[in-house]
Amino acid sequence: MTNTEPLLEVDNLQVHFKLHGGLLGRHQATVRAVDGVSFRVDQGETLGVVGESGCGKSTTGLAVLRMIDPSAGSIRLNGDDITLYKGRQLRRIRRRLQMVYQDPFGALDPRMRVLDIVGEPLLVHKLTSDRHAYRKRVLELLDLVGLNPKMAERYPHEFSGGQRQRIGIARALAAEPELIICDEPVSALDVSIQAQIINLLEDLQSELGLTYLFIAHDLAVVRHICDRIMVMYLGQVVETASRDTLYDQPMHPYTQALLSAIPVPDPRAETAREVDPSLQGEVPSPVNPPSGCPFHPRCRHAHDACRETKPPLRELQSGHAVACHLYDPAASEVNAPWPVARPA
Ligand SMILES: Nc1ncnc2c1ncn2[C@@H]1O[C@H](COP(=O)(O)OP(=O)(O)OP(=O)(O)O)[C@@H](O)[C@H]1O
Ligand SMILES: [Mg+2]
Repeated sequence: MTNTEPLLEVDNLQVHFKLHGGLLGRHQATVRAVDGVSFRVDQGETLGVVGESGCGKSTTGLAVLRMIDPSAGSIRLNGDDITLYKGRQLRRIRRRLQMVYQDPFGALDPRMRVLDIVGEPLLVHKLTSDRHAYRKRVLELLDLVGLNPKMAERYPHEFSGGQRQRIGIARALAAEPELIICDEPVSALDVSIQAQIINLLEDLQSELGLTYLFIAHDLAVVRHICDRIMVMYLGQVVETASRDTLYDQPMHPYTQALLSAIPVPDPRAETAREVDPSLQGEVPSPVNPPSGCPFHPRCRHAHDACRETKPPLRELQSGHAVACHLYDPAASEVNAPWPVARPA
């Protein structure tokens, strides 16, 4: 691997679920959950994946983990094309990719002691030689995530939500993965605990050189932890930029709307803050997505081109890519406001 090769490279990923129904179980509809998504994650960085519920974030994560088969596209990990791996190859790749789930209550087996929950990947992937080394490693992992190693004999119900999420993180680390997919890891936790878990993930990243794909549904959570952010809408990427660029110069009207929904600390500014009205109303169904730009039915800047043709994701500045006709002079010459106003 050269230094410039990304750790993870996803190219034109599609995940389409076929829905069957009726007595004969005939194919009735296709859910275009992920519909042509491309991105890369470099070694040691955190890429945030943000978008409203149902836009395909978890499905993207599960396809990268190879828990769901992609319908098209490719997934490369450290240069290996893992898209079609099966059997033993797939089991081997599973160690290199781990997931931290949203629900720390549902993700842990209530009948297993913490010792066995955290240690299971050591056995599955044959990472320890004997019982003594196994126990020592689990206690080390508990210590690493800020839990008292004496808690190893306890069961999940004896822990708080934040502690259970620490157990989930220790279990993911046990496999010594190259990439950890964090699927809304703090959404189910109290706000006061969220920052502790985010800080832990950040500390572990600098200590162990970890790489994260960090999924969240709003832009407030990812602000501190991500280096770059990819905004998804209806199974597609609408904008990708470095964290600072995305917050300071959001270009896609959907990104601008998501940012308008974040509360601000200054009470006067917070009183004056208006959430972009385009966030009201439902996200269209991925079974029958809109023609042209997927966001056009909710976008206040939409014009003819937006209804007719899908805007490609184009890199307008280095590292900042947007899929929006407003930034395509040929398509927007006639109707579009130029440049698009940023949210106040
Ligand atoms: N196994 C499945 N079969 C059919 N449709 C599915 C399946 N899994 C997900 N979907 C659909 O695919 C779309 C994307 O779902 P996904 O869970 O990836 O969204 P998400 O962005 O993670 O949303 P959330 O923020 O609610 O977690 C949704 O419309 C969902 O209903
Ligand atoms: Mg999800």
